Amino acid sequence: MKSYTSLQARFLEELDLIKNTTELSTLRAKYIGKSGSVTSALKTLTELPPNERGAAGKAINEDKNFIAATLKEKEDVLKRIEISNKIASNKIDLTLPGYYKKAGGRHPVSIVMKEIVDIFASMGFAIEEGPEVETDYYNFEALNMPKNHPARDMQDTFYVDTGGLTQNASAVDSDVLLRTHTSAVQIRVMKRSAPPLRFIAPGKVYRRDSDITHTPLFHQVEGLMVDTDISFANLKAVLEGFLHLVFGATLPVRFRPSFFPFTEPSTEGDIGCFFCKQTGCRICKGTGWIEILGAGMVNPKVFQMVGYDPELYCGFAFGMGIERITMLKYGIDDIRLFYEGDLRFLQQF
Ligand code: PHE
Repeated sequence: MKSYTSLQARFLEELDLIKNTTELSTLRAKYIGKSGSVTSALKTLTELPPNERGAAGKAINEDKNFIAATLKEKEDVLKRIEISNKIASNKIDLTLPGYYKKAGGRHPVSIVMKEIVDIFASMGFAIEEGPEVETDYYNFEALNMPKNHPARDMQDTFYVDTGGLTQNASAVDSDVLLRTHTSAVQIRVMKRSAPPLRFIAPGKVYRRDSDITHTPLFHQVEGLMVDTDISFANLKAVLEGFLHLVFGATLPVRFRPSFFPFTEPSTEGDIGCFFCKQTGCRICKGTGWIEILGAGMVNPKVFQMVGYDPELYCGFAFGMGIERITMLKYGIDDIRLFYEGDLRFLQQF
């Protein structure tokens, strides 16, 4: 073996060409790995003449230490570069547009319901609620419709089969039902609070009915105002004012005599048909008028039922169907469209 000459210069030339940590590992193996040039030189030291061994051993060890230290320095530099490159390439560009998530919209019945609630709230009416699963007492009895009263035939009722919960085996005999109108809330509120009262009760009601103008579930807004000096003129002013806010100030409104067991006198409110400008069309059935709500002065018998003194208190009540008002407002001719969930219909609102 020839005497050892330092490999540092050659190593440094090669190191200059290294661009990443992978190449660096290869270079490390080439010089100071198990079979690297420096390592092999150390192994063959014994082949040198004894007088050269000391100096050569020292030179080899110096090379080994120098190369190892230089590699370490270079490795640190390369690693830092590699990490910052990785961060730079993963950078989030905050100026990119985000993923567009389509928002849902309000259902037309909800839109009109909110509008109606807002109007009555602006007139000082509070908002009340009652249960959709009601008892015969609140839905009929306390509203002056005793069992076998002919007025109960006006509403085909869903009775709830309470099964083992009551002695009644048959659903038809059940005292539990899905409320057929929001008028049940009148009784609940009057029973728990003293007059004066001024509130509306929006909510779902249920009837066994299904065709182009009826669905088994629909929405009503009930209203009740009770005090010592409420007259039919107040009823007309509130309801006419309300209808003008919903349908426009020039809309003709009229009140027709009608009958409800819980109001006396009773009336139905009509609005002039704006589809035909009152000349008569299919929608108003040729009459020029469209029925829009039921109302009346609270029947003294109802006050008696809730423990209000009918000699002292009087008031008016009203009820209206929201789907019907929504259909008129938007010119929708089939109520079932509201509940089919067809997006082509719903997206128009
Ligand atoms: N509850 C009646 C109905 O559903 C409407 C109504 C409410 C009438 C209040 C008069 C007073 O048809």
